[in-house]
Amino acid sequence: MKNSIFYVLALAFVSYAITGCVKSIDSEPLELSQLELPTVPYNYANIEIPTHINMQDNSPNDNQISDHGATLGRVLFYEKAMSKNNTIACASCHEQALGFANATAFSEGFEGQMTTRNSMAIANHRFAEQFFWNSDNRPLEEQVIQPVQNHIEMGMERLEDLALKIDAIPYYDDLFDKAFGSTEVTSDKIGKALAQFLRGMVSTDSKYDKAMVANNNFADFTELEKAGFEVFENKANCADCHNPGSDFAASWRGATNIGLDMDYADEGAGNGRFKIPSLRNVAVTAPYMHDGRYVTLEEVIEHYDNGVKPHPSLDWALQGNGGAQNLDLTLAEKQALKAFLMTLTDEQYLTDARYSNPFID
Ligand code: HEC
Ligand code: HEC
Repeated sequence: MKNSIFYVLALAFVSYAITGCVKSIDSEPLELSQLELPTVPYNYANIEIPTHINMQDNSPNDNQISDHGATLGRVLFYEKAMSKNNTIACASCHEQALGFANATAFSEGFEGQMTTRNSMAIANHRFAEQFFWNSDNRPLEEQVIQPVQNHIEMGMERLEDLALKIDAIPYYDDLFDKAFGSTEVTSDKIGKALAQFLRGMVSTDSKYDKAMVANNNFADFTELEKAGFEVFENKANCADCHNPGSDFAASWRGATNIGLDMDYADEGAGNGRFKIPSLRNVAVTAPYMHDGRYVTLEEVIEHYDNGVKPHPSLDWALQGNGGAQNLDLTLAEKQALKAFLMTLTDEQYLTDARYSNPFID
Protein backbone atom coordinates (compact mmCIF):
# COMPACT_ATOMS: atom_id res chain seq x y z
CA MET A 1 0.00 0.00 0.00
CA LYS A 2 2.73 2.38 1.02
CA ASN A 3 4.50 1.59 -2.23
CA SER A 4 1.52 2.37 -4.38
CA ILE A 5 1.00 5.74 -2.67
CA PHE A 6 4.60 6.56 -3.35
CA TYR A 7 4.13 5.53 -6.95
CA VAL A 8 1.16 7.86 -7.37
CA LEU A 9 3.01 10.74 -5.73
CA ALA A 10 6.09 10.10 -7.76
CA LEU A 11 4.10 10.27 -10.96
CA ALA A 12 2.22 13.43 -10.07
CA PHE A 13 4.01 16.37 -11.61
CA VAL A 14 3.11 20.00 -11.80
CA SER A 15 3.64 21.23 -15.27
CA TYR A 16 4.38 24.86 -15.84
CA ALA A 17 3.15 24.87 -19.40
CA ILE A 18 4.19 28.17 -20.78
CA THR A 19 4.47 28.86 -24.43
CA GLY A 20 5.73 31.84 -26.31
CA CYS A 21 8.41 34.27 -25.37
CA VAL A 22 9.13 36.52 -22.45
CA LYS A 23 10.36 40.03 -23.06
CA SER A 24 14.03 39.80 -22.41
CA ILE A 25 16.68 42.42 -21.64
CA ASP A 26 18.92 40.78 -24.21
CA SER A 27 18.85 40.93 -27.94
CA GLU A 28 17.98 37.25 -28.16
CA PRO A 29 14.34 36.44 -27.30
CA LEU A 30 13.91 33.99 -24.48
CA GLU A 31 12.05 30.88 -25.62
CA LEU A 32 10.62 29.20 -22.56
CA SER A 33 10.63 25.44 -22.25
CA GLN A 34 8.07 23.48 -20.32
CA LEU A 35 9.02 22.83 -16.73
CA GLU A 36 7.85 19.69 -14.94
CA LEU A 37 8.31 19.24 -11.19
CA PRO A 38 6.92 16.68 -8.74
CA THR A 39 3.93 17.99 -6.74
CA VAL A 40 5.63 16.82 -3.57
CA PRO A 41 9.23 18.01 -3.81
CA TYR A 42 12.00 15.44 -3.89
CA ASN A 43 13.97 14.86 -0.74
CA TYR A 44 17.22 16.82 -0.62
CA ALA A 45 17.16 18.00 2.99
CA ASN A 46 17.12 14.64 4.72
CA ILE A 47 19.37 12.42 2.68
CA GLU A 48 20.93 9.74 4.81
CA ILE A 49 24.72 9.94 4.74
CA PRO A 50 26.52 6.65 5.48
CA THR A 51 29.03 6.90 8.31
CA HIS A 52 32.09 6.19 6.12
CA ILE A 53 31.47 9.63 4.57
CA ASN A 54 31.93 11.16 7.95
CA MET A 55 32.79 14.69 6.89
CA GLN A 56 31.89 18.16 8.03
CA ASP A 57 28.74 19.59 6.38
CA ASN A 58 29.56 23.06 5.01
CA SER A 59 25.95 24.38 5.07
CA PRO A 60 25.93 27.79 6.79
CA ASN A 61 23.27 28.56 9.42
CA ASP A 62 21.54 31.06 7.18
CA ASN A 63 21.24 28.64 4.27
CA GLN A 64 20.24 25.18 5.44
CA ILE A 65 18.95 22.88 2.67
CA SER A 66 15.19 22.71 2.21
CA ASP A 67 13.46 20.56 -0.39
CA HIS A 68 11.86 23.64 -1.98
CA GLY A 69 15.13 25.60 -1.91
CA ALA A 70 17.05 22.79 -3.63
CA THR A 71 14.19 22.36 -6.13
CA LEU A 72 14.57 26.02 -7.11
CA GLY A 73 18.33 25.44 -7.34
CA ARG A 74 17.75 22.47 -9.65
CA VAL A 75 15.64 24.59 -12.02
CA LEU A 76 18.26 27.36 -12.00
CA PHE A 77 21.02 24.81 -12.68
CA TYR A 78 19.24 23.79 -15.91
CA GLU A 79 18.05 27.34 -16.75
CA LYS A 80 19.49 28.72 -20.00
CA ALA A 81 18.20 32.21 -19.16
CA MET A 82 21.03 32.30 -16.60
CA SER A 83 23.38 33.11 -19.48
CA LYS A 84 23.56 36.39 -21.32
CA ASN A 85 22.24 35.05 -24.61
CA ASN A 86 19.96 32.33 -23.22
CA THR A 87 21.95 29.42 -24.63
CA ILE A 88 24.05 28.10 -21.74
CA ALA A 89 22.99 26.60 -18.42
CA CYS A 90 25.24 25.25 -15.67
CA ALA A 91 24.23 21.82 -16.96
CA SER A 92 25.69 22.61 -20.41
CA CYS A 93 29.15 22.00 -18.92
CA HIS A 94 28.12 19.84 -15.97
CA GLU A 95 26.24 16.81 -17.37
CA GLN A 96 24.62 14.31 -15.02
CA ALA A 97 25.55 11.17 -17.01
CA LEU A 98 29.20 12.30 -16.84
CA GLY A 99 29.25 12.84 -13.09
CA PHE A 100 28.38 16.50 -13.84
CA ALA A 101 31.63 16.99 -15.73
CA ASN A 102 31.99 17.59 -19.47
CA ALA A 103 33.21 15.23 -22.21
CA THR A 104 35.61 17.72 -23.80
CA ALA A 105 38.87 19.14 -22.44
CA PHE A 106 37.46 22.66 -22.64
CA SER A 107 33.79 23.60 -22.65
CA GLU A 108 31.90 25.94 -24.88
CA GLY A 109 30.50 28.93 -23.06
CA PHE A 110 28.16 31.57 -24.41
CA GLU A 111 28.83 32.86 -27.93
CA GLY A 112 31.05 29.88 -28.64
CA GLN A 113 33.95 30.98 -26.45
CA MET A 114 35.91 28.17 -24.84
CA THR A 115 36.83 27.81 -21.18
CA THR A 116 40.57 27.60 -20.55
CA ARG A 117 40.21 24.71 -18.12
CA ASN A 118 38.46 21.37 -17.92
CA SER A 119 34.99 21.40 -16.35
CA MET A 120 34.91 19.72 -12.94
CA ALA A 121 32.72 16.91 -11.66
CA ILE A 122 30.12 17.84 -9.07
CA ALA A 123 29.20 15.52 -6.18
CA ASN A 124 29.30 15.77 -2.40
CA HIS A 125 30.30 19.43 -2.48
CA ARG A 126 28.43 19.67 0.79
CA PHE A 127 31.53 18.15 2.36
CA ALA A 128 34.19 19.95 0.32
CA GLU A 129 36.38 22.71 1.70
CA GLN A 130 37.79 24.05 -1.55
CA PHE A 131 36.42 24.62 -5.02
CA PHE A 132 37.73 25.19 -8.54
CA TRP A 133 41.13 24.14 -9.85
CA ASN A 134 42.80 26.97 -7.92
CA SER A 135 41.45 25.61 -4.62
CA ASP A 136 39.34 28.55 -3.59
CA ASN A 137 37.90 28.34 -0.10
CA ARG A 138 35.10 30.89 -0.22
CA PRO A 139 31.65 29.54 0.66
CA LEU A 140 29.65 27.65 -1.96
CA GLU A 141 27.03 30.44 -2.02
CA GLU A 142 29.64 32.74 -3.59
CA GLN A 143 31.29 30.11 -5.78
CA VAL A 144 28.13 29.14 -7.63
CA ILE A 145 27.62 32.69 -8.84
CA GLN A 146 31.11 32.91 -10.41
CA PRO A 147 30.27 30.96 -13.59
CA VAL A 148 27.21 33.11 -14.22
CA GLN A 149 29.30 36.28 -14.22
CA ASN A 150 32.26 34.70 -15.97
CA HIS A 151 32.45 36.32 -19.36
CA ILE A 152 33.38 33.09 -21.10
CA GLU A 153 31.00 30.77 -19.29
CA MET A 154 27.69 32.62 -19.02
CA GLY A 155 28.47 36.29 -19.44
CA MET A 156 25.96 37.83 -17.02
CA GLU A 157 28.40 40.42 -15.75
CA ARG A 158 25.79 42.48 -13.85
CA LEU A 159 24.02 40.47 -11.19
CA GLU A 160 21.20 43.05 -11.09
CA ASP A 161 20.41 42.08 -14.69
CA LEU A 162 20.35 38.41 -13.75
CA ALA A 163 17.78 38.99 -11.00
CA LEU A 164 15.59 41.09 -13.33
CA LYS A 165 15.75 38.49 -16.02
CA ILE A 166 14.84 35.56 -13.79
CA ASP A 167 12.08 37.67 -12.21
CA ALA A 168 10.46 38.12 -15.63
CA ILE A 169 9.98 34.36 -16.10
CA PRO A 170 6.53 33.32 -14.83
CA TYR A 171 7.35 29.99 -13.13
CA TYR A 172 9.87 31.58 -10.77
CA ASP A 173 7.21 33.43 -8.70
CA ASP A 174 5.96 30.17 -7.28
CA LEU A 175 9.43 28.63 -6.92
CA PHE A 176 10.93 31.61 -5.03
CA ASP A 177 7.82 31.89 -2.88
CA LYS A 178 8.06 28.24 -1.82
CA ALA A 179 11.81 28.39 -1.30
CA PHE A 180 12.14 31.74 0.46
CA GLY A 181 8.59 32.79 1.43
CA SER A 182 8.51 35.68 -1.03
CA THR A 183 8.38 36.03 -4.82
CA GLU A 184 11.17 38.62 -4.79
CA VAL A 185 14.18 37.53 -6.86
CA THR A 186 17.69 38.58 -5.82
CA SER A 187 21.10 37.32 -6.93
CA ASP A 188 21.78 36.47 -3.29
CA LYS A 189 18.80 34.08 -3.27
CA ILE A 190 19.88 32.63 -6.62
CA GLY A 191 23.28 31.83 -5.08
CA LYS A 192 21.66 30.33 -2.00
CA ALA A 193 19.27 28.12 -3.98
CA LEU A 194 22.05 26.85 -6.27
CA ALA A 195 24.20 26.13 -3.23
CA GLN A 196 21.32 24.19 -1.65
CA PHE A 197 20.91 22.11 -4.80
CA LEU A 198 24.65 21.39 -4.97
CA ARG A 199 24.63 20.37 -1.30
CA GLY A 200 21.68 18.11 -2.06
CA MET A 201 23.73 16.40 -4.80
CA VAL A 202 24.94 13.56 -2.68
CA SER A 203 26.58 10.45 -4.10
CA THR A 204 26.91 7.52 -1.70
CA ASP A 205 26.00 4.44 -3.71
CA SER A 206 29.07 3.26 -5.64
CA LYS A 207 30.31 -0.30 -5.36
CA TYR A 208 32.98 1.05 -3.01
CA ASP A 209 30.32 2.75 -0.84
CA LYS A 210 28.27 -0.45 -0.72
CA ALA A 211 31.31 -2.37 0.45
CA MET A 212 31.95 0.19 3.19
CA VAL A 213 28.31 0.09 4.34
CA ALA A 214 28.24 -3.73 4.31
CA ASN A 215 31.51 -3.69 6.26
CA ASN A 216 32.22 -7.23 5.04
CA ASN A 217 35.86 -6.97 4.10
CA PHE A 218 35.08 -6.14 0.45
CA ALA A 219 33.39 -9.53 -0.04
CA ASP A 220 31.67 -8.30 -3.22
CA PHE A 221 34.83 -6.91 -4.81
CA THR A 222 36.55 -9.02 -7.48
CA GLU A 223 40.13 -10.12 -6.77
CA LEU A 224 41.29 -7.50 -9.28
CA GLU A 225 39.39 -4.70 -7.52
CA LYS A 226 40.75 -5.76 -4.14
CA ALA A 227 44.29 -5.86 -5.51
CA GLY A 228 43.70 -2.42 -7.00
CA PHE A 229 42.66 -0.93 -3.67
CA GLU A 230 45.82 -2.37 -2.17
CA VAL A 231 47.97 -0.70 -4.87
CA PHE A 232 46.01 2.56 -4.44
CA GLU A 233 46.68 2.63 -0.71
CA ASN A 234 50.22 1.28 -0.59
CA LYS A 235 52.55 0.85 -3.53
CA ALA A 236 51.15 3.80 -5.54
CA ASN A 237 50.32 5.97 -2.52
CA CYS A 238 47.33 7.54 -4.29
CA ALA A 239 45.54 7.69 -0.95
CA ASP A 240 48.08 10.24 0.32
CA CYS A 241 46.21 12.83 -1.72
CA HIS A 242 43.00 11.08 -2.79
CA ASN A 243 42.12 10.03 0.73
CA PRO A 244 39.24 7.54 0.95
CA GLY A 245 38.28 9.13 4.28
CA SER A 246 37.72 12.51 2.60
CA ASP A 247 35.75 11.16 -0.34
CA PHE A 248 38.93 10.54 -2.37
CA ALA A 249 39.98 14.19 -2.23
CA ALA A 250 42.16 15.93 0.35
CA SER A 251 40.91 19.47 0.48
CA TRP A 252 42.84 20.27 3.64
CA ARG A 253 46.07 19.93 1.62
CA GLY A 254 44.97 22.71 -0.74
CA ALA A 255 46.45 22.83 -4.23
CA THR A 256 49.51 20.81 -5.14
CA ASN A 257 51.93 20.17 -8.02
CA ILE A 258 51.88 16.65 -9.46
CA GLY A 259 54.70 17.13 -11.96
CA LEU A 260 52.65 17.30 -15.16
CA ASP A 261 55.07 19.78 -16.82
CA MET A 262 58.34 21.54 -16.10
CA ASP A 263 56.94 24.78 -17.58
CA TYR A 264 53.32 25.47 -16.87
CA ALA A 265 51.13 27.22 -19.44
CA ASP A 266 48.65 27.61 -16.57
CA GLU A 267 50.23 28.24 -13.18
CA GLY A 268 47.03 27.33 -11.31
CA ALA A 269 47.26 28.42 -7.70
CA GLY A 270 50.95 29.24 -8.37
CA ASN A 271 53.90 27.05 -9.43
CA GLY A 272 51.64 24.63 -11.29
CA ARG A 273 49.64 23.73 -8.21
CA PHE A 274 46.02 22.60 -8.63
CA LYS A 275 43.20 21.36 -6.41
CA ILE A 276 43.25 17.66 -5.55
CA PRO A 277 39.94 16.57 -7.10
CA SER A 278 37.78 13.80 -5.69
CA LEU A 279 37.97 10.55 -7.66
CA ARG A 280 34.30 9.74 -7.12
CA ASN A 281 32.70 8.79 -10.48
CA VAL A 282 36.12 9.22 -12.12
CA ALA A 283 35.41 6.47 -14.70
CA VAL A 284 32.82 8.76 -16.35
CA THR A 285 34.44 12.19 -15.93
CA ALA A 286 37.07 12.01 -18.71
CA PRO A 287 39.05 13.84 -19.93
CA TYR A 288 41.29 14.34 -16.90
CA MET A 289 43.36 17.04 -15.17
CA HIS A 290 42.84 20.82 -15.16
CA ASP A 291 43.45 20.99 -18.91
CA GLY A 292 41.82 17.69 -19.85
CA ARG A 293 45.14 16.40 -21.24
CA TYR A 294 44.51 12.72 -20.48
CA VAL A 295 41.66 10.97 -22.21
CA THR A 296 41.80 7.62 -20.41
CA LEU A 297 42.49 6.35 -16.91
CA GLU A 298 45.36 4.31 -18.38
CA GLU A 299 47.08 7.56 -19.38
CA VAL A 300 46.57 8.97 -15.88
CA ILE A 301 48.04 5.84 -14.34
CA GLU A 302 51.02 6.02 -16.74
CA HIS A 303 51.61 9.59 -15.58
CA TYR A 304 51.86 8.58 -11.93
CA ASP A 305 53.81 5.43 -12.78
CA ASN A 306 56.64 6.92 -14.83
CA GLY A 307 55.65 10.35 -16.15
CA VAL A 308 56.02 12.60 -13.10
CA LYS A 309 58.42 15.48 -13.85
CA PRO A 310 60.92 16.62 -11.20
CA HIS A 311 59.49 20.14 -10.92
CA PRO A 312 60.98 22.20 -8.05
CA SER A 313 57.48 22.56 -6.56
CA LEU A 314 56.63 18.85 -6.92
CA ASP A 315 54.61 17.52 -3.98
CA TRP A 316 56.73 15.50 -1.52
CA ALA A 317 54.39 12.55 -1.94
CA LEU A 318 55.46 12.19 -5.59
CA GLN A 319 59.19 12.64 -5.07
CA GLY A 320 61.70 9.83 -5.44
CA ASN A 321 65.15 9.05 -6.70
CA GLY A 322 66.22 11.65 -9.24
CA GLY A 323 63.53 14.05 -8.03
CA ALA A 324 60.37 12.32 -9.24
CA GLN A 325 58.86 8.97 -8.32
CA ASN A 326 58.95 5.96 -10.60
CA LEU A 327 56.43 3.51 -9.22
CA ASP A 328 57.49 0.57 -11.37
CA LEU A 329 53.98 -0.80 -11.45
CA THR A 330 53.50 -4.10 -13.26
CA LEU A 331 50.85 -4.35 -15.97
CA ALA A 332 48.71 -6.41 -13.57
CA GLU A 333 49.01 -3.70 -10.91
CA LYS A 334 47.99 -1.00 -13.39
CA GLN A 335 44.97 -3.01 -14.48
CA ALA A 336 44.03 -3.62 -10.88
CA LEU A 337 44.33 0.08 -10.08
CA LYS A 338 42.00 0.92 -12.94
CA ALA A 339 39.51 -1.75 -11.82
CA PHE A 340 39.50 -0.21 -8.34
CA LEU A 341 38.93 3.31 -9.71
CA MET A 342 35.90 1.95 -11.55
CA THR A 343 34.31 0.86 -8.25
CA LEU A 344 33.89 4.57 -7.46
CA THR A 345 31.12 5.01 -10.04
CA ASP A 346 27.68 5.62 -8.55
CA GLU A 347 25.12 4.71 -11.25
CA GLN A 348 22.24 5.74 -9.00
CA TYR A 349 23.65 9.28 -8.79
CA LEU A 350 24.20 9.48 -12.55
CA THR A 351 20.53 8.72 -13.22
CA ASP A 352 18.77 10.06 -10.09
CA ALA A 353 15.64 12.03 -11.09
CA ARG A 354 16.35 14.54 -8.31
CA TYR A 355 19.35 15.84 -10.20
CA SER A 356 17.96 15.51 -13.71
CA ASN A 357 16.80 18.15 -16.18
CA PRO A 358 13.33 19.37 -15.10
CA PHE A 359 12.64 20.97 -18.49
CA ILE A 360 10.93 19.02 -21.23
CA ASP A 361 12.52 20.35 -24.39
C1 HEC B 1 30.97 27.00 -20.07
C2 HEC B 1 31.11 25.89 -19.14
C3 HEC B 1 30.64 26.04 -17.71
C4 HEC B 1 29.42 26.52 -17.26
C5 HEC B 1 28.29 27.09 -18.06
C6 HEC B 1 29.43 26.33 -15.83
N1 HEC B 1 30.61 25.75 -15.43
FE1 HEC B 1 31.08 25.21 -13.55
N2 HEC B 1 32.96 24.79 -14.15
C7 HEC B 1 33.43 24.90 -15.45
C8 HEC B 1 34.88 24.84 -15.46
C9 HEC B 1 35.77 24.95 -16.71
C10 HEC B 1 35.28 24.69 -14.11
C11 HEC B 1 36.72 24.73 -13.59
C12 HEC B 1 37.09 26.20 -13.63
C13 HEC B 1 38.36 26.56 -12.90
O1 HEC B 1 38.63 26.00 -11.84
O2 HEC B 1 39.08 27.44 -13.37
C14 HEC B 1 34.05 24.65 -13.32
C15 HEC B 1 34.02 24.46 -11.95
C16 HEC B 1 32.86 24.49 -11.19
C17 HEC B 1 32.80 24.22 -9.76
C18 HEC B 1 33.95 23.80 -8.86
C19 HEC B 1 33.90 22.30 -8.64
C20 HEC B 1 34.98 21.76 -7.73
O3 HEC B 1 35.00 20.55 -7.50
O4 HEC B 1 35.80 22.52 -7.21
C21 HEC B 1 31.49 24.40 -9.37
C22 HEC B 1 30.92 24.25 -7.97
C23 HEC B 1 30.75 24.78 -10.56
N3 HEC B 1 31.61 24.81 -11.65
C24 HEC B 1 29.40 25.06 -10.57
C25 HEC B 1 28.75 25.65 -11.65
C26 HEC B 1 27.43 26.24 -11.57
C27 HEC B 1 26.54 26.26 -10.34
C28 HEC B 1 27.16 26.73 -12.81
C29 HEC B 1 25.94 27.52 -13.25
C30 HEC B 1 25.65 28.71 -12.49
C31 HEC B 1 28.31 26.41 -13.66
N4 HEC B 1 29.26 25.77 -12.91
C32 HEC B 1 28.39 26.72 -15.01
C33 HEC B 1 32.65 25.04 -16.57
C34 HEC B 1 31.37 25.58 -16.54
C1 HEC C 1 50.57 14.57 -4.37
C2 HEC C 1 49.15 14.37 -4.39
C3 HEC C 1 48.59 13.35 -5.36
C4 HEC C 1 48.88 12.00 -5.43
C5 HEC C 1 49.85 11.20 -4.60
C6 HEC C 1 48.02 11.47 -6.47
N1 HEC C 1 47.23 12.47 -7.00
FE1 HEC C 1 45.87 12.26 -8.45
N2 HEC C 1 45.61 14.27 -8.53
C7 HEC C 1 46.25 15.20 -7.71
C8 HEC C 1 46.03 16.55 -8.21
C9 HEC C 1 46.53 17.83 -7.61
C10 HEC C 1 45.26 16.39 -9.39
C11 HEC C 1 44.85 17.51 -10.34
C12 HEC C 1 46.08 17.95 -11.09
C13 HEC C 1 45.85 18.88 -12.27
O1 HEC C 1 44.80 18.85 -12.87
O2 HEC C 1 46.77 19.65 -12.58
C14 HEC C 1 45.01 14.97 -9.53
C15 HEC C 1 44.23 14.41 -10.54
C16 HEC C 1 43.96 13.05 -10.66
C17 HEC C 1 43.02 12.49 -11.60
C18 HEC C 1 42.17 13.29 -12.58
C19 HEC C 1 40.87 13.66 -11.94
C20 HEC C 1 40.04 14.60 -12.76
O3 HEC C 1 38.86 14.75 -12.44
O4 HEC C 1 40.53 15.20 -13.73
C21 HEC C 1 43.02 11.14 -11.42
C22 HEC C 1 42.19 10.12 -12.16
C23 HEC C 1 43.98 10.85 -10.38
N3 HEC C 1 44.52 12.04 -9.93
C24 HEC C 1 44.29 9.58 -9.92
C25 HEC C 1 45.36 9.32 -9.08
C26 HEC C 1 45.90 8.00 -8.87
C27 HEC C 1 45.36 6.72 -9.48
C28 HEC C 1 46.98 8.15 -8.02
C29 HEC C 1 47.94 7.10 -7.56
C30 HEC C 1 48.64 6.40 -8.64
C31 HEC C 1 47.07 9.56 -7.71
N4 HEC C 1 46.08 10.24 -8.39
C32 HEC C 1 48.01 10.13 -6.86
C33 HEC C 1 47.00 14.88 -6.61
C34 HEC C 1 47.56 13.63 -6.35
